[in-house]
Amino acid sequence: MQLKQNISLKNLNTFGIAAKAEQFVAVRSVDELWEVLATNPYPVQILGGGSNILLTGDVPGLLIKNEIGGIRIEAEDENSAIVFAGGGVNWHSLVLWAIEHDLGGIENLSLIPGCAGAAPIQNIGAYGVELKDVFYRLEAVELATGAIKVFNHKDCRFGYRDSVFKNELKGKYCITGISLRLSKKHQLNTSYGDIQRTLAAANIEPPTIRDVSNAVIHIRQSKLPDPAEIGNAGSFFKNPEIGMAQFQELQNRYPDIVHYELPDGMVKIPAGWLIEQSGWKGQRFGDAGCHAKQALVLVNYGGASGAELLELAHKIQASVKEKYGITLSPEVNIW
Ligand code: EPU
Repeated sequence: MQLKQNISLKNLNTFGIAAKAEQFVAVRSVDELWEVLATNPYPVQILGGGSNILLTGDVPGLLIKNEIGGIRIEAEDENSAIVFAGGGVNWHSLVLWAIEHDLGGIENLSLIPGCAGAAPIQNIGAYGVELKDVFYRLEAVELATGAIKVFNHKDCRFGYRDSVFKNELKGKYCITGISLRLSKKHQLNTSYGDIQRTLAAANIEPPTIRDVSNAVIHIRQSKLPDPAEIGNAGSFFKNPEIGMAQFQELQNRYPDIVHYELPDGMVKIPAGWLIEQSGWKGQRFGDAGCHAKQALVLVNYGGASGAELLELAHKIQASVKEKYGITLSPEVNIW
């Protein structure tokens, strides 16, 4: 464990923004984290896989990279297993580990960049599954005191791309490990149209959890830019939810508006559709752009600064607001 000064974060955030951390240390265990916290005089921020942040400037104080590893089965019965993963475990490695061990529940979440400890913060989700569907509990260290706290499902207050860690407890804890309840008797979720089409095209019936994972990998690779090639942080905005009255008014003006009615009476509109219809898809301004295959993803073609990407995000928000009266909220954390 080594404390470093003024280190470049370009390779530690998937947007590839060339910002620096004033102080930086990577920790591999809870003991190392405690050791750092016990002697550290600086304000602290935690970095995971760097796949859901937009750095708009250098990071002051101490940035602690969570590299706490390890995957193990904590408990099991004939139906399911509780699997523990260290907060720094790469999320997709955990998905592959689960598939290797024939444990189901997270195959739809294949290829999501980032680490296990960050997964509950925004309740990662894709193709009809969210982390909350398999979440059992997590362990976290309170940064101010070093105390370990266990959060069960209810404590996390999961919502759509949301949890208590994005609200009241924002920046207060380092998530050192998560435990998921994975199934031995699989209930596949292939309801998402793209998954059905991909499996049907390959003549796969009935699919295994590995088939579903492979289908998701195929879909993601065909639509979403690979951060190793083009900097990005996945969906930049959340899909907005609006009331039925507002939706009906919009549908009168735009009869082809894509929408999903939610059980609570609200209507979800894909932000990608709103952004595309507002003319942003595939647009590029210097090295900052709106992806040509998925308008919800903002991209850094190489040299864009966080400020330039944020300016593009603000322009997109303003034009969607003007045309549709809908406010887009960022899904990515803006630092
Ligand atoms: N659409 C467009 N134009 C676009 C993009 C999308 O018109 O450029 C419309 C299409 O009608 C499409 C619909 O939006 O059918 C939905 O698009 P897609 O299936 O690509 O999903 P999304 O709503 O844009 C969400 C998640 C993704 C997740 C996918 C698949 C959010 C903010 N994003 O995207 O998650 O992979 O569903 O489940 O909920 C992420 O969070 O970083 C992320 C990539």
